Amino acid sequence: MPFHIIRNDITKMQVDAIVNAANRSLLGGGGVDGAIHKAAGPGLLAECKMLGGVKTGEAKITGGYRLPCRYVIHTAGPVYRSGNENEAALLASCYLSSLKIAHERNLESIAFPLISAGAYGYPRDQVFRIAADTIRAFLANHDMTVYLVIFDSASMSIGQALFYDIRRYIDDNYAEQHANLRAPENMPEVYGDAMPDGASSGYEPERGGFFYDQGFTTISAFPDEYEGCLFQRELEDLFDTIDESFTQMLLRKIDERGMKDSECYKRANIDRKLFSKIRSDIHYRPKKPTAIAFAIALELSLMETSELLSKAGYALSKSSKFDVIIEYFISKRIYDIHMINEALFTFDQQLLGS
Ligand code: APR
Repeated sequence: MPFHIIRNDITKMQVDAIVNAANRSLLGGGGVDGAIHKAAGPGLLAECKMLGGVKTGEAKITGGYRLPCRYVIHTAGPVYRSGNENEAALLASCYLSSLKIAHERNLESIAFPLISAGAYGYPRDQVFRIAADTIRAFLANHDMTVYLVIFDSASMSIGQALFYDIRRYIDDNYAEQHANLRAPENMPEVYGDAMPDGASSGYEPERGGFFYDQGFTTISAFPDEYEGCLFQRELEDLFDTIDESFTQMLLRKIDERGMKDSECYKRANIDRKLFSKIRSDIHYRPKKPTAIAFAIALELSLMETSELLSKAGYALSKSSKFDVIIEYFISKRIYDIHMINEALFTFDQQLLGS
């Protein structure tokens, strides 16, 4: 997975380079600057003294000294004032300048803090969005592993409205909180003459997927959660693809959408090597987050997602908070994998991708 959002102390990162949110003098300070200099030892300051400072939005590189990384890339973020003084462009430039230096040195991995989100007062959610957008745009044309390191959970924000909407969806759907959502023992046939008078059934994402409504009991589920739960589908379509493997369905969906392979795996936040492995093995069985990442990249419906997952032996389950959050986004047809990862990160879930 080329882009990781992780909670860690950047001085512990074993990557080619970590980025320091420094000031223009490059002579050390507090916050992450202070932590990096403390962990690196005096050699770092001695080298920084020879750099002659750095302009806001620009970056310079030094050795890593006692740090577990090989290099430190120092950049000075903008001090946040009103938001109308070119702060966003300068902040984006901090990330891009650092990525360019790493690329010029053929570095394979780099870790960033949330530059300017501390002493420089930049609103954290705006920093997160600018950092994520700049990194994503860079990774669309470059192979590198990039970490965005969140030091404290307060730094992470997906926006209050989205956070509360997802939390309400989890409260409504997450099986741990709603025992009655589990299938009753004697689940009746949903189709055929077993349907009681007045009952109805169908598929409505906003009702949690497939539903069977007897007027007094509404049970929503995905087909793979019940034995014998039939749902309306083109049977010939089903039979045509019933023997298809995960890889075959993935490649078919890429073709059907007129996508290039690279477009699909980059949108899925999957690295090229893993995709080549999947493409070359017709019976490849991916990890569940990887399979879901491809479903998101292909913008599959909930039904198609269930089918793709089933090819790899998985199912979306209401007993998994991760799956319920994925179901939230797919049911609302929101396929921005980085927004989904930000949400998964906020709810302490594993991220999508390889
Ligand atoms: N690892 C990762 N992130 C960290 C760490 C750490 N060890 N320590 C702090 N952070 C995070 C903070 O939580 C914040 O989100 O780094 C982000 C940036 O905060 P600051 O370090 O205060 O940097 P910034 O806001 O860019 O201000 C830079 O502060 O330390 C001085 O010399 C520095 O003058 C410069 C100014």
